[in-house]
Amino acid sequence: MAAKSELRSDGKRTRKSAQDGPPANGRNGVEQHSLRVGNGRRSLPPVRNLVVLGCGGFIGSHLLDRLLDQGAIRIEGWDLHDEKIAAHLANPKFTFHREAFSDTRIPAGLIEAVRWADAVINLAAICNPSQYNTNPLEVIKSNFLDVYRLVELCSHHGTWLIHFSTSEVYGRTVSSYLPAPDYSNPDLFELEETATPLIMGPIQNQRWSYACAKQMLERFIYAHHRERGLPYTIVRPLNFFGPKMDFIPGRDGEGIPRVLACFMTALLDRSPLQLVDGGAARRTIVSIHDAIAAVVLMLQKPDRAANQIFNIGNRENEVTMAELAELMRLVYAEVTGDPSYLSHPIVSVSSRDFYGEGYEDCDRRMPVLAKARELLGWTPRISLYDTLLETVAYYYRTYGEATLADRPAEPAGKVFGDYPTKLPSDGAVDVGR
Ligand SMILES: NC(=O)c1ccc[n+]([C@@H]2O[C@H](COP(=O)([O-])OP(=O)(O)OC[C@H]3O[C@@H](n4cnc5c(N)ncnc54)[C@H](O)[C@@H]3O)[C@@H](O)[C@H]2O)c1
Repeated sequence: MAAKSELRSDGKRTRKSAQDGPPANGRNGVEQHSLRVGNGRRSLPPVRNLVVLGCGGFIGSHLLDRLLDQGAIRIEGWDLHDEKIAAHLANPKFTFHREAFSDTRIPAGLIEAVRWADAVINLAAICNPSQYNTNPLEVIKSNFLDVYRLVELCSHHGTWLIHFSTSEVYGRTVSSYLPAPDYSNPDLFELEETATPLIMGPIQNQRWSYACAKQMLERFIYAHHRERGLPYTIVRPLNFFGPKMDFIPGRDGEGIPRVLACFMTALLDRSPLQLVDGGAARRTIVSIHDAIAAVVLMLQKPDRAANQIFNIGNRENEVTMAELAELMRLVYAEVTGDPSYLSHPIVSVSSRDFYGEGYEDCDRRMPVLAKARELLGWTPRISLYDTLLETVAYYYRTYGEATLADRPAEPAGKVFGDYPTKLPSDGAVDVGR
């Protein structure tokens, strides 16, 4: 049994030395790397052995696609689902554990893996808005309590924790609380990782259960960093879009998925796209491929990524939800070659009817991305149109008529002329009532 990490005189832990650990080549042939400690600052080793929690979900599946394709990293992953990562299950560089972790149970294999990993990426969460106000106890448990012990474990072993939080921790913008909300002053609505206040609504608006649990976990991670030297990175994603996100109700899941899959379901089912409260909320959408590129850069530059919080989004791809609905029906018309989708119905529903009591939305999320650019050299490159074209084509190929009628799988292309570069600025679309 390897010795535990040692407590230094300043209260921080040093990583166990190579002699303390398993044989030089480690468990399962995994190489070991010890942390160098100097002047109170830890230098992180290159990431060769990685633990990914929630590896079977949307982001996890794309992360595995990229990392297992590229080379040298060995990955141990945990999730209860493997449908989206079936292609990797036989890869010798990947070990899948069909297990969950929780506040009361961390699997023995996970405890051991955290001990010897160079980094742990935590993606595991309930992160579906339809559950925030209808199932808040589970949401809080999943996003705070279940991860609490994992943070302690990483802290104890000095293992770099890359935790996926959310841009929802920012809550609503300062602008939205002004008597006449206006967005002329960026200081009142742009979101900067270490300066912007985190503003959430009252307790009875249980929609904030997710954001609040995520924020509390960020504070817990940061406290472990400050008091016990935990190397950490917090990622705040801003609407990653791409293939394999969520599920299509009635086909491979039940309930209400996130907005992308909601709109896709409506298009696939030829039912109206539903805009919650008129679809005025604005979001910046980033392609999953750009987002994964940011994570890869973090893994390649541990000393630049560690002990930082990063927004990961795309400022160029901002749309209101009403504009998004309009664009998605346009892209769907192109992908299917069926112009009738250009006038596919879009209706407005109240958030109360759609999500139930206690819903409240963030008005706008415009990330400042200077830190990711300066420290990681990352800039998102994929346009909203290209992101939607790839994504919509994927859903059509996977779930749509193409699968039933054996029609061509590739998108038909821009058959309806140029993509509208100028969108209505007020989010106004033809909204049937
Ligand atoms: N996708 C986005 O745009 C976005 C936006 C904001 C935040 N995030 C955060 O990024 C992370 C990943 O998001 P995603 O879109 O891939 O979500 P996802 O729901 O597709 O994937 C999460 C995965 O975690 C697994 N999981 C949940 N609890 C678990 C547990 N206790 N043990 C093991 N596995 C567990 C689920 O089975 C699922 O496969 C989440 O923390 C989410 O809050 C994502």
